[in-house]
Amino acid sequence: MSNETLTITDNRTGRVYEVPITDGTVRAMDLRQIKVDQDDFGLMSYDPAFKNTASTKSYITYIDGDKGILRYRGYPIEQLAESCTYIEVAYLILFGELPNAAQLAAWEQAIIHRSLVHENVRHLFDGFRYDAHPMGMLISTVAALSTFYPEAKNVTDPEVRMLQIHRLIAKMPTLAALAYRNSMGFPVNYPDNDLSYTANFLAMMFRMVEPKYQPNPALVRALDVLFILHADHEQNCGTNAMRSVGSSRVDPYSAVAAAAAALYGPLHGGANEAVLRMLNEIGSVANIPDYVRRVKAGEFRLMGFGHRVYKNYDPRARLIKQVADEVFDVTGRNPMLDIALELERIALEDEYFVERKLYPNVDFYSGIIYQAMGLPTAMFPVMFAIPRTVGWLAQWVEMVTDKEQAIARPRQIYLGEDHRDLIPMEAR
Ligand code: CMC
Repeated sequence: MSNETLTITDNRTGRVYEVPITDGTVRAMDLRQIKVDQDDFGLMSYDPAFKNTASTKSYITYIDGDKGILRYRGYPIEQLAESCTYIEVAYLILFGELPNAAQLAAWEQAIIHRSLVHENVRHLFDGFRYDAHPMGMLISTVAALSTFYPEAKNVTDPEVRMLQIHRLIAKMPTLAALAYRNSMGFPVNYPDNDLSYTANFLAMMFRMVEPKYQPNPALVRALDVLFILHADHEQNCGTNAMRSVGSSRVDPYSAVAAAAAALYGPLHGGANEAVLRMLNEIGSVANIPDYVRRVKAGEFRLMGFGHRVYKNYDPRARLIKQVADEVFDVTGRNPMLDIALELERIALEDEYFVERKLYPNVDFYSGIIYQAMGLPTAMFPVMFAIPRTVGWLAQWVEMVTDKEQAIARPRQIYLGEDHRDLIPMEAR
């Protein structure tokens, strides 16, 4: 064996094992041979919340959390945000290469022509209560799409898969806009095929009685950048849900609903909404020191701060701060920005945050921008789910076509009662 191995001595038996190290990893299954006797199941690893376990090999997104690096298919996020549209980056994430002009045109056509939803899907929105959260509506209606496309169950057929991928990328903005229009009591806007992916989304959201809605190009560009920054982020909670649920070979609409549900939580994509609520609660710059004191006392967390992988400034947060200025040039400055900037300044100088390497993450500034664009707070996680759909789908394809993958089914350490016999009701 090469020196790329790990030697393990089992002090229970005195036996020595040598297991290979590949890509800086040992295989948990290699531990199974380590037994005290023939009846022993074999050694397992215990890793709640997957803090040190790779669940897959992947070729899509690279993160170096210590250096603050994020790349899709090898390209730095900064270069993609500077030069590409979201739909171009979506192609890159899915297919591994940037499209040429003809490929991009065909890709845009394939998407834009699938942006309508069945009228019955539109009527589903009538069933929600007047104050329904748009993320709940999005999760339910994307799951409902599986009933409209029953062939989507054939997840092993590449052509069927590709059709659902087109549909999901195309229809998520439509469902999101329907959720918003429904919660506002506004009439529905149908997609406009003359517009780009992001411009069409803004038109479906904000068109009132104008015969042709032309969104401000600076806002379209800002939305492209925001969508690029949210498109994928390797094995996060939502993506892990997509892979895990998809591993049962369920259709991708159901799996995307599961991924979106995971994203909804306040520790994940729901954090952008929580940040705005937090900034509102703080109310003014003068109240920040007391708020930070309460965070440090463990009363609650500073939302939009900290990350499982980044132990440095989240590169997406850095780019989002630049987008904020471009958006505010059009919309006027969001007064929440002053509170956020001061909160960041104080936190980054504070020993509690420095010691724990807690920096602003992607959600810290995105909500402030979305609010300036006129979106209600409850729409913020929806604005995360739309662009993340392509990441979920790319990871799902990788999982379905990976021969090493199987239904996701972790082990447990059972610590409950040993065998015991039932006592009749009258004797309990
Ligand atoms: N405010 C205050 N303390 C924090 C925070 C925070 N936002 N985040 C972590 N800590 C502390 C935590 O209390 C712990 O301290 P101690 O060692 O004294 O117990 C230490 O830092 C490590 O925290 P952890 O909970 O072990 O870290 P984790 O990797 O399990 O959690 C996280 C990562 C993102 C869930 C967490 O940082 C958090 O709750 N942040 C706030 C919510 C948020 O902004 N989420 C968005 C994440 S980025 C986008 C996305 O994923 O969608």
